[in-house]
Amino acid sequence: MAVFFVNGTEVSVEKNQRLLRYLRDTLHLTSVKDGCSEGACGACTVLIDGEPIRACTPFTDSLAGRHIITVEGLTDEEKKLYTYAYGEAGAVQCGFCIPGMVLCTKALLDKNPDPTDDQIRYALRNNYCRCTGYVKIFAAVRLAAKCRREGVIPAPSEDDWKLGSSVHRIDVEEKVLGYGKYPDDWYLPDMCYGSAVRSQYPRARVLAIDTSKAAALPGVVRVITAADIPGENKVGHLKHDQYSLIPIGGLTHYLGDAIALVVAETPEILEKAKKLVKVTYEPLPAVHNPPEAWAEDAPRVFDEEESNVQAYKHIARGDAETAIQNSKYVISQHFETPWTEHAFLEPECAVSYMDKDGYVMVLSADQSSHTTLHECKLLLGTDKVRVQNQLVGGGFGGKEDMSVQHHAALMTYLTGRTVKVKLTRPESLLIHPKRHPFWMDFTMGCDENGIIQGVKAKVYSDTGAFASLGGPVLERACTHAAGPYNYQNFEIEGTAYYTNNPPAGAFRGFGVTQTCFATETLLNEMADKVGITPWEIRYRNAIRPGQELPNGQIVGSETGLVETLEAVKPYYDEAMKQGKPVGLACAMKNAGVGVGIPDWGRCKLIVEDDAKSISTRAHPASARASAPSSCR
Ligand code: FES
Ligand code: FES
Repeated sequence: MAVFFVNGTEVSVEKNQRLLRYLRDTLHLTSVKDGCSEGACGACTVLIDGEPIRACTPFTDSLAGRHIITVEGLTDEEKKLYTYAYGEAGAVQCGFCIPGMVLCTKALLDKNPDPTDDQIRYALRNNYCRCTGYVKIFAAVRLAAKCRREGVIPAPSEDDWKLGSSVHRIDVEEKVLGYGKYPDDWYLPDMCYGSAVRSQYPRARVLAIDTSKAAALPGVVRVITAADIPGENKVGHLKHDQYSLIPIGGLTHYLGDAIALVVAETPEILEKAKKLVKVTYEPLPAVHNPPEAWAEDAPRVFDEEESNVQAYKHIARGDAETAIQNSKYVISQHFETPWTEHAFLEPECAVSYMDKDGYVMVLSADQSSHTTLHECKLLLGTDKVRVQNQLVGGGFGGKEDMSVQHHAALMTYLTGRTVKVKLTRPESLLIHPKRHPFWMDFTMGCDENGIIQGVKAKVYSDTGAFASLGGPVLERACTHAAGPYNYQNFEIEGTAYYTNNPPAGAFRGFGVTQTCFATETLLNEMADKVGITPWEIRYRNAIRPGQELPNGQIVGSETGLVETLEAVKPYYDEAMKQGKPVGLACAMKNAGVGVGIPDWGRCKLIVEDDAKSISTRAHPASARASAPSSCR
């Protein structure tokens, strides 16, 4: 037991536990975020006797007599100061890291009212922000310091929200002060906890599932297997190939596959009960990458698919083969790009309950709450589902698919209970889709002046254990592979393969980054062969208004690649002259959904004086003008 002070109030804590758990689960001080539970991310930072400390590391028994401050315990003046400074600097995006940053800022400025940039960087060294790139957070600290020194907190610079105004985000205050709610911040009456027992093997046949011991453990509400699913087992954004639970007799597809769900009254009972679920497997050889997936005798990732091919695209224009044969310079190269993890700071969490209308309500942190709704309805076999998005602590494409939402909905549907389902950081890393790794073979032909004559390529992606957005990602990879250049002979074949790896899906760039890397690397090598600079070869080939891209699109008058290259040239030349390592690459990316699907733009018109002359009909926006619906 220990007695200490939290935000000025004396508390007496019987059970020795991590400080983070006590602050969140008992005191419900939810500004203290749980990003990793293991001292890595800084989202849980509090001040202990004025020093920033990650609350997930110390045990309460070690804190006797200490004074702990969370953002909730700041003075009103401090709350105003940090809300202003972080808002004015534009330092807040998803907001999950911000309360921790604010406390580091306070700790610094309490000791050093006028810190240097290096001192600011040092003060924030233990706190990750995945969204902002830190520059604006450093600016917020500088601004807070200035306001403190001058004793003045100005009003926000602009607040009229007209086009062109620079306004504070509407959610700045709730994110800076930590009262905005992410799903894990909900503590509802009578709430129990749910989690999945996951596969021990990336590929195995499930022979038996024995839930009897787990179900008999006091405090266990229910153990759920595939046999209990009232609707469709398989969900998925575009293709319904993601098993919610692997049935007896079914194959596992990766280590993240759920075999059983356990619902229990406390997190401690939950963990005990999960260990009591006994699954009998027949381990089978797994498929680890596309070359293994396309081998003639490759094991199949899905029983129900005829091969491991998940998607195929072929784009051809002109005659790339002949153009390359007739080129003065030809380069062929093999490229491989790796998995990339989104590393958003908020692990996936959903809370579900039966609402007053008898619907299953899912509170989630979704990038795609409408598809979550459709998929939960499918799984439960009922339309009586609602999904309400909470604050999302970063996603970048990694929170588009089902992770915990459908499991939470199923648990509530079958038990009638309010359930919180939250992934640990290792589970989160295992479950959510990553950037697709690609295997790529490219050939490029150029004439004696470095003008591209033709490009031919074959690319293969690893989409892992279910399709997610593997098809559209492959499509973007192929349509953009030619680069923003003016040539007319182009051919690319792309294939996405299922493997027994974690799934791959949406990630900023959406397939374009991978093939762009190959094209741009080839251009650099081609420049060397021709004897011109990387800048010059891009300038000679750059697409200009009115010309046709190798994928057939005629570019509009707003295309400014040439002007961009001209603008960077002095800096590029200077850096080259000084022998600095300098790189140059050009890329294009679709805006909006693309591929011919109409993009709709909508706006809300508030008519103040005269309603007669204004039509409020929404217009389909052009692909160029509309905002993308996600990060594709
Ligand atoms: S450092 Fe404590 S939650 Fe990440
Ligand atoms: S704003 Fe920092 S992690 Fe999102």
